[in-house]
Amino acid sequence: MDLELTEEQRLVQETARSFAREEVLPKAPSIDREHRFPKELVARMAELGLMGVAVPTEWGGSGLDTISYVLAMEEVSRACASTGVIMSVNNSLVCDPLMKFGTDEQKREFLVPLAAGKKLGCFALSEPDAGSDAAAQKTVSRRDGDHWIINGVKNWITNGPVADVCILFTMSDRQKGAKGITAFILPMDTAGVKCGPPDKKLGIRGSQSCQIFLDDVKLPDRLRLGEVGGGFKVAMSTLDGGRIGIAAQALGIARAALEDAMAYALERKTFGQAIAKHQAIQFKISDMATEIDAARLLTLRAATMKDEGARFSAEAAMAKVFASEVANRAAKEAVQIFGGNGYVEDFPVERHFRDAKITEIYEGTSEIQRLVIANNLLKD
Ligand code: CAA
Repeated sequence: MDLELTEEQRLVQETARSFAREEVLPKAPSIDREHRFPKELVARMAELGLMGVAVPTEWGGSGLDTISYVLAMEEVSRACASTGVIMSVNNSLVCDPLMKFGTDEQKREFLVPLAAGKKLGCFALSEPDAGSDAAAQKTVSRRDGDHWIINGVKNWITNGPVADVCILFTMSDRQKGAKGITAFILPMDTAGVKCGPPDKKLGIRGSQSCQIFLDDVKLPDRLRLGEVGGGFKVAMSTLDGGRIGIAAQALGIARAALEDAMAYALERKTFGQAIAKHQAIQFKISDMATEIDAARLLTLRAATMKDEGARFSAEAAMAKVFASEVANRAAKEAVQIFGGNGYVEDFPVERHFRDAKITEIYEGTSEIQRLVIANNLLKD
């Protein structure tokens, strides 16, 4: 793996960094406080080519690589984790499977506007009774001539309340378990689709999620994504890529915690000197920085493997589990370094602390990542 960024990758990083610093960061506290979906920032990300970073230009994207995507995700999430996940879902969980499994007709109709950021996507796999056990889908799809009739409920769907298009997973043959799952492209304005109220969340409050109710939704077979019964593989291989995106989001949150803690430690005085002079604080800062670098290397390795077309399930899971746990440790230490000021909303670190938690849960909990890693290591 080449540790040097190319000129193009550096340019993407710089562009994303200045966008994040100048346009996203000033709004992050109010986005969180008001639980506000940052529509204007999503529009700016579309202008900057951040909504379909690794999608080829002929399909509406920026034609860059996964490394560039990771670099941009880290920068945006360093400023605002909510804005980061909106970008991540559209890139990883929507554009990616359309690129990989979509027909040319589906790509023209859906991928082009999604990758250009003219439309926004969501990914509906989880259900009230099927989170970690993703194969336990209860949403049913039944073939009816050239159409499918779909009924069920999806849960915690990020971007759900604001999405135009959904990558939807259904059970088309319960007897077959994981091999009975079929994926569809669902335009969210289809009759019978209803969103519940936005979830009230601990963190990433600017990113809206909701339940999606599917009541006799009729979809033509041309909107099926991949093979009948091939949906579980669509979901799993999509999540492999998604986990790289969430690792990058976690990196951004961890870096925010570290950078805010360093700035504070250089300013805040106790016992006659800046707290940055105290070894207790220095050790915390050193550990945070070291872990963040290690998490970044794991994330870039998984991204490199994805770009090279290698199987990267275990490496993506390693990056995700490590980076998300680093983000949580870093945010916890940042609150500690801020002391009383870390516990109140006037300072940013309580937001990092709340935002970090979800990275250990969505796109596969830490426990699921460890399972994926072990399954890959132990398979004969
Ligand atoms: N790529 C391709 N195929 C894969 C795969 C992958 N990464 N992982 C598994 N498969 C295939 C297997 O090869 C197997 O097929 P064969 O029988 O033909 O070999 C089939 O899928 C079933 O595999 P398993 O027996 O391993 O499946 P399992 O039922 O034991 O579950 C699991 C595996 C890893 C636990 C899986 O259910 C999982 O990842 N669960 C977590 C789900 C998750 O991440 N949900 C997140 C929701 S989305 C979200 O959070 C979005 C958001 O809002 C931000």
